[in-house]
Amino acid sequence: MISWQAPPARPALLPHQVHVWRVSLQRPPLPADMLWGVLDKAERQRAQRYRFERDRRRFVAARGMLRVILARYAGIAPAAIHFDYSDHGKPSLSDFPELAFNASDSGDLMALGVALNRLLGVDIERVRDDFGGLEIAERFFSPAEIASLRSLPPQARPRAFFRCWTRKEAFIKAIGEGLSYPLHQFEVTLKPDEPARLLRVVGEPDAARRWFLTDFPVHPDYEGAVIAEAPVADMAYFSWGIGD
Ligand SMILES: CC(C)(COP(=O)(O)OP(=O)(O)OC[C@H]1O[C@@H](n2cnc3c(N)ncnc32)[C@H](O)[C@@H]1OP(=O)(O)O)[C@@H](O)C(=O)NCCC(=O)NCCS
Repeated sequence: MISWQAPPARPALLPHQVHVWRVSLQRPPLPADMLWGVLDKAERQRAQRYRFERDRRRFVAARGMLRVILARYAGIAPAAIHFDYSDHGKPSLSDFPELAFNASDSGDLMALGVALNRLLGVDIERVRDDFGGLEIAERFFSPAEIASLRSLPPQARPRAFFRCWTRKEAFIKAIGEGLSYPLHQFEVTLKPDEPARLLRVVGEPDAARRWFLTDFPVHPDYEGAVIAEAPVADMAYFSWGIGD
C-alpha cells in the first residue's frame, strides 16, 4: 500500500530512489497565468496550435507543472529549465544530465517519474471499458500476453488490458524509441494476482534483472506504471492538487 505525500519544496532524491508525482490537469494546483508564464516560446506556440481551449489549458497545465516540479529538483526557476529532445521526441535536461524524468498524461491527470542516472519511463491510462480488449491486444501484445488476457474472465479484461498497455508503454518510453520499438518483442505481466514485472525482452537475456517495474494507483479509474533501470531500493509518491 503506498501513501501519497504532500509536494516537497526541495525534493531530496537518493541515488536508488524513484519519485512519482501525480498532478490534476483539470484543476492545476497553480494559477493558469503563472503556468503560462514559465513556458518557452516553442511551448507557447504549441499551446496556441490547439483548436480547443480545453486542450490548450490542459497542455499549459501539464507542461507548466512539469517545469515547476523539475525546477524544484534542479534548484532553478521553472522558466530556466531547458529541454532537449531525442530523435524520437523524448525530453531530457542537458544542463542536469543526472536528472532522469518521464511524464505521462491521460484524462485529467498527469504523472511524472524522477530518478538519478538511469533510464526511466512512466505511463498512465484511464481505463475505458469501450476500448481495448482482444482485438487491439492481438495487434500490439506478445503471444504470451494475449494468452494471459484470454485466460481472464471477460469482466477482468479491460483493466488487465490497460495494465499491460501502461507497463509496455512505460518500457518503450524508458528506452525512448517510441513506437519504432517492436511491442511484441518484450513481455510484461498483466494478471491481477501477478506482481508487475518485465518478464523478457527478445535478444536481451538480462532484461528481467536489468529493469525494475511497478504499478502505482494514480486514481481508481486509471492504471499507472513506472519502470526504471535497477537497482531501485525505494519509491516515494507525491500528490499535488488531488485530494489535498
Ligand atoms: C509519444 C509516446 C512515447 C507516448 O505517447 P502517449 O502514451 O500517447 O503519451 P504520454 O502522455 O504517456 O507521454 C507523452 C509524454 O512523453 C514524453 N515523450 C515524448 N516522446 C517520448 C519518447 N520517444 N520516449 C519517452 N517519452 C517521450 C513527453 O514528455 C510527452 O509529453 P508531451 O506530449 O506533453 O510533450 C509514444 O509511445 C506513442 O505515441 N504511443 C502511442 C500509444 C500506443 O500505441 N501504445 C501501444 C502500447 S501497447
